Order: sequence, then structure tokens, then C-alpha cells
Amino acid sequence: MDDFRYKISARNDLLEKKPSFFIRTYGCQMNERDSEKMAGLLTQIGFATAASQDDADLVLYNTCCVRESAEDKVIGHLSYLKRLKTERPFILAVGGCMPQQKNIAQLLKEKHKYVDLVFGTTNRHRLPEFLWRVMEKGERVVDISEGDDLPEITDIAVTTREFSHKAGVNIMYGCDNFCSYCIVPYVRGRERSRPMAEILEEVRALASDGVKEIMLLGQNVNSYAGGIADWSFAARTARPSDPGQVSNDEQPSAFPELLRHVNEIEGLKRIRFMTSHPKDFSDELIAAVRDCEKVCKSVHLPLQAGSSRVLADMNRQYSKEGYISLAEKLYAAIPGLALTTDIIVGFPGETEDDFEDTLDIVRNVRFAGAFTFIYSKRSGTPAAERTDLIPRKTANERFDRLTAELYSIMTEKNMQKVGHVIDVMVEEAQPNAESINSCKNQSSKVFSYRGRADDHTLVHFTAEKEFLAGEITPVRVNTAKTFYVSGSAV
Ligand code: 5AD
Ligand code: SF4
Repeated sequence: MDDFRYKISARNDLLEKKPSFFIRTYGCQMNERDSEKMAGLLTQIGFATAASQDDADLVLYNTCCVRESAEDKVIGHLSYLKRLKTERPFILAVGGCMPQQKNIAQLLKEKHKYVDLVFGTTNRHRLPEFLWRVMEKGERVVDISEGDDLPEITDIAVTTREFSHKAGVNIMYGCDNFCSYCIVPYVRGRERSRPMAEILEEVRALASDGVKEIMLLGQNVNSYAGGIADWSFAARTARPSDPGQVSNDEQPSAFPELLRHVNEIEGLKRIRFMTSHPKDFSDELIAAVRDCEKVCKSVHLPLQAGSSRVLADMNRQYSKEGYISLAEKLYAAIPGLALTTDIIVGFPGETEDDFEDTLDIVRNVRFAGAFTFIYSKRSGTPAAERTDLIPRKTANERFDRLTAELYSIMTEKNMQKVGHVIDVMVEEAQPNAESINSCKNQSSKVFSYRGRADDHTLVHFTAEKEFLAGEITPVRVNTAKTFYVSGSAV
């Protein structure tokens, strides 16, 4: 424990009642994981969890900046918190990707003076120091500086988990891809992979703690440890100032190997990973997904756009044909595979023909699910310089056409599951569990559950038996909707 961790936990120990915290998380699974780590750190230094932001002594917003709408949401909520602060005192902290952009840190500093603490993505491990300065010294802290150490190197030991049966494990941080629309490489820095031995140790510890499902996390998991001659010794912790130090071309990614090792870990039932870049989806990786029985047959493979011209403008490094042939290869190698994706409409210069290419791939690949976005200009990215913007009305209209196409395919795919029995991992019991069902003279309890199939299909089902989260049970599917199927345990 560093000096400030001692200081602040000693301070909190002296109080009659522990100060409480509430964290609100925006954005991706990486952010959710960061929040779990911050919650672990806060617990370690003597904070208790609060049920809501309305009664917390520390309200912390862990923010996202991938699209303007994510930022607008945070700014909107801040005005509510500003009002709340006039009613009762509490510490308001805003951290993560949004303030990691200098202009936003400046905006928060100058225009939102009621925010007590502003920090970034690379210094969140300094939370104890920042809180000490705010709570003990009465300072207002706005700090997005990068120190000599990165948070991921110091915060491994202190983590809380939101779920008992599943957990995310970071395998790499940052992104080197620089897709032309994307702010992530600027706020999360260059790719840094954790040593394999350390990841395996963390997964083993989670499995012995009862975790059944692991999600291996990174902005680009399938370039994990790419370029490193010997990943077992060299953690790829090159700093952003030296991005060219190791090149992805030098060595293939060690991700397939990592998957095979995680697959061996006893107690684990399912392994998922997110997110993959199509350009790094090697034949070795396809073989590893195929061979490893615990690796789920579901791959999230962001497409972003269907037109090869737009893909080149986006700097995605694959073409329409390249994506389709990768999807075909995946389907052929892995029976029952479900592909999900991310798609952006309205990228600058996108013509009707370009958009038709996107629809064409959607029909061709038949995605089982998709996150769909309207292009959002992010200052500092190459695409933000473009002047050939798509009118909002056109983008909205394309968005609606795209989702209609996706939804009809998703519904059809779910309909094909009706009558089949699929293995479902229980995620949670519904609040109305234990309804009484009387049949002739007998009465039996029926429980309702929500769970996921191996291919990530959301399944609502009933059972006459009680299950714990993480248990797997066969379920016969009776009905299908766009976003889920329903059935009963057999
Ligand atoms: N505008 C719209 N969507 C974006 N994404 C990333 N940057 C932008 C942007 N500027 C989407 C991509 C990515 C997902 C996480 O967010 O589809 O895969
Ligand atoms: Fe952003 Fe592209 Fe990196 Fe994904 S791969 S985080 S879209 S730059």
C-alpha cells in the first residue's frame, strides 16, 4: 500500500461511520472493469458502498467519450448533481476517457467548478492521493497527467466483482489501430499486453473463487502480445512515446495460445473475448476457437461499414470481400457460430451505394446481433477534418433501414431455435421467482430465470427447480422474439 492509501484509510478508520461511494459507469466493458478496480481500491481505503448517488459521500462518474451522445449524457447528469450539491455536501469526481481529452478537462475545470475531482484513464490508481487532497486539504484537483507508472501495473491486487459467477479479465490495454473516426487510441494510449503468466494466474484465482465464465477484455484482443518474440518474459508495456518499438508484423499474436491455456483451467465453464479486429483474426485463432470446448461459439467482429472505399477511409485495413471471406471461413470452421458486430452509418462521404454495401454484408453474414451507431465527430481524429458530412436526416434514415434489416434477420435466426434444446447458463433469477402454479391437486413452484446460451442468445426460461447463477441447464425453446427466446428447463 502506498503512502496515500495508508493515510486515507487511517483517516477513514477514525470516523464513526465509513464514508460511502457510488460509481456510475458509462461506455464499454473496459470501463466497467476499471470501475470494479476503483471500487476495490475505495473499499481497501475504508469506503463503504452506497445504494445510490443520492446518499453517497463520494459520487464518481467513470466516463466514456467514444461518441458525443455519451458525453452529453454525463454533462446532463452533472447539472442534476450540481443541484444535489446545494442540498447536501458530497464529493463529486469525474474520471475516465472524457476528461482524458484536454479540452474536456479544461471545460470541467472552468465551467463546472462544483466538480471536486477530475482525473483521467492513466492516473486512476492515484485516486487515494487525489481524495486525500480533496478531503483533507480542501483542494480542488484537476489532474490528467500521465505518471511514470500505469494504473494497470499497480491495481491488479485490489478488485471487487459485480457478479459472483462471471468476471472480466483485462489482457491488454490501449489500441494502435487509429481507425480514422475513433478517439480511443488518444485517450487509452498505445497497446500494452499483460504477461500471459499473470493473466493465467488471475483466471485461476477467479475460477477457484467460483467464477464460471471469463470474458477476456481488450480493445483489440486478437493482437494480444503481437510483435513480442517471447511473451512469457516481456510484458508489452512500451509507452506511447515509443509506439514503433515492436511491430505487429514481427510475431503473430499470442492470443490463440492464451485461449488454449485458459481453456485448461479447471472449474471454468465458458470463455468469451471482446473485441476482435477482423484484420487480426488469424487461422490459428479460428482453430483455437474451434478446438477449445470452453470457448463460446460467439464472436464479436466489428464491421463498421460495408463499402471497401469507406473502410479504407476509416483505416480499417480490410475490404468488403475480406470481411465476407473471413465470416465464411469462421462459419465453415465453427458449426453453430454466432457473429455479432458494430456498424457505423453516416461516415463522412458515405453514398447511397456505400450504404447498400453495408446492407449487403448484413444480409450476407446474417449477424446474430449488432451495436449500431450514427457517426459522431470526435475532435482530434483524422475524420473530424472531413467536410463532406452526411446530413443528419439521411444518417437517421439509413440507421432505421439498417436496424430494420438487422432485426428481421435476428428474429428469423431466433425463430430457428424454437423446438430445440439449448444449454443455458443462468445469469439471474427474475424478481417474480417462486410464483405458485397449481395443477389438479398438486401445487408446484415455478421459477423464472434469465440466462445465455453458448452463442450468447438471451434466454428467458422457467423451471421447477432452483438454480444458482453460473449453473448450466438444458432449456427447450418455445417462442422467439428479436432480442431473446423463451422456453422451459427440461
Ligand atoms: N462515431 C460513431 N461510432 C463510433 N464508434 C467508435 N467511434 C465512433 C464514432 N466516432 C463505435 C464503433 C466501435 C464502437 C465501440 O463504437 O463501432 O466499434
Ligand atoms: Fe477504436 Fe479502431 Fe481501436 Fe476499435 S480498433 S478502439 S474502433 S481505433
